[in-house]
Amino acid sequence: MNDLDLLVGAAQADFAAAATPAELENAKARYLGKAGQVTELLKGMGALSHEEKKTRGAEINQTKQRIESLLTERRQALAEAELQAQLKAESLDVSLPGRQHGMGGLHPVSRTMERIEAIFGSMGFEVADGPEIEEDWFNFTALNTPADHPARSMHDTFYVDTKAPDGSGHLLRTHTSPMQVRHAVQHVKRHAAALAAGQAMPEIRVIAPGRTYRVDSDATHSPMFHQCEGLWIGENVSFKDLKAVFADFFRNFFETDDLEIRFRPSFFPFTEPSAEVDIAFASGPLKGRWLEVAGSGQVHPNVVRNFGLDPERYIGFAFGMGPDRLTMLRYGVNDLRLFFDGDLRFLSQFK
Ligand code: DAH
Repeated sequence: MNDLDLLVGAAQADFAAAATPAELENAKARYLGKAGQVTELLKGMGALSHEEKKTRGAEINQTKQRIESLLTERRQALAEAELQAQLKAESLDVSLPGRQHGMGGLHPVSRTMERIEAIFGSMGFEVADGPEIEEDWFNFTALNTPADHPARSMHDTFYVDTKAPDGSGHLLRTHTSPMQVRHAVQHVKRHAAALAAGQAMPEIRVIAPGRTYRVDSDATHSPMFHQCEGLWIGENVSFKDLKAVFADFFRNFFETDDLEIRFRPSFFPFTEPSAEVDIAFASGPLKGRWLEVAGSGQVHPNVVRNFGLDPERYIGFAFGMGPDRLTMLRYGVNDLRLFFDGDLRFLSQFK
């Protein structure tokens, strides 16, 4: 084996040892670069005779070509290996199940709201919606709760720095009761012609579910909570109807006839007489315990007047209940805060 064969062997070993294209280019420079070994051989030919130049020159050129083809071979091998590695890393298994978007579900309190609307809807109640930033007039004064009334202190809330058209303040509504007035006033307007002619007005029968606010926070109170107002006004609507409506509602809502309802005398400025409504289940984990579920009463004549109606002719009842509480009872949840923490581990149980 002559020096040229040895050189080719060395280049082959060097190229094989190069693990990356960059290493290979470095190896190439050692043989074919400006100061590479092949180049040095060519430079050294100057000292040879004309005849020697011919044969030696041809041999060196052949060597150069052999090294170049080894280089090309190795380049291709490295490129191929890189491609294979890339394909492996990016492999796509089309038989895997597709990635799914998480399916959302209704919040448990929203479920309750929908139930309430469906059940009262079946009893002929409309559903009304109104502002959460409310005027002092609708939230208090129109509901027979003037500025100096002590009942206001139980409704401490969040005040907003703007003025209502009547010059009084705005606040985050402390209950859904202002919707009684808003809805009744609209209803009276719609039937103004009939009323002016002394004709009978269609009854007001409405519920108004929504968010309400107070400065309160513990396991059973949240600064934001829900209420559902109800109002039924006509010429012949009495407490007897209120009792029947509640009996129907709660039996439907809790899907049981084994349920008792009790009215406890109470006080609200906008009803007279007023009652708290309690229910008790005849079976189940809460068996026999009286649970407060609503406030109610016959609408106070001053409030009926603020509806724009004659309290001598139009009477009826109103109620306000707590959908959060009803949700806790229906699903057996004992901490109200779970509803508003947004923890998916809790919420996904209701999907
Ligand atoms: N608004 C009352 C509250 O938040 C609840 C209530 C009681 C509403 C009696 C009524 C009612 O409509 O007649 O405590």
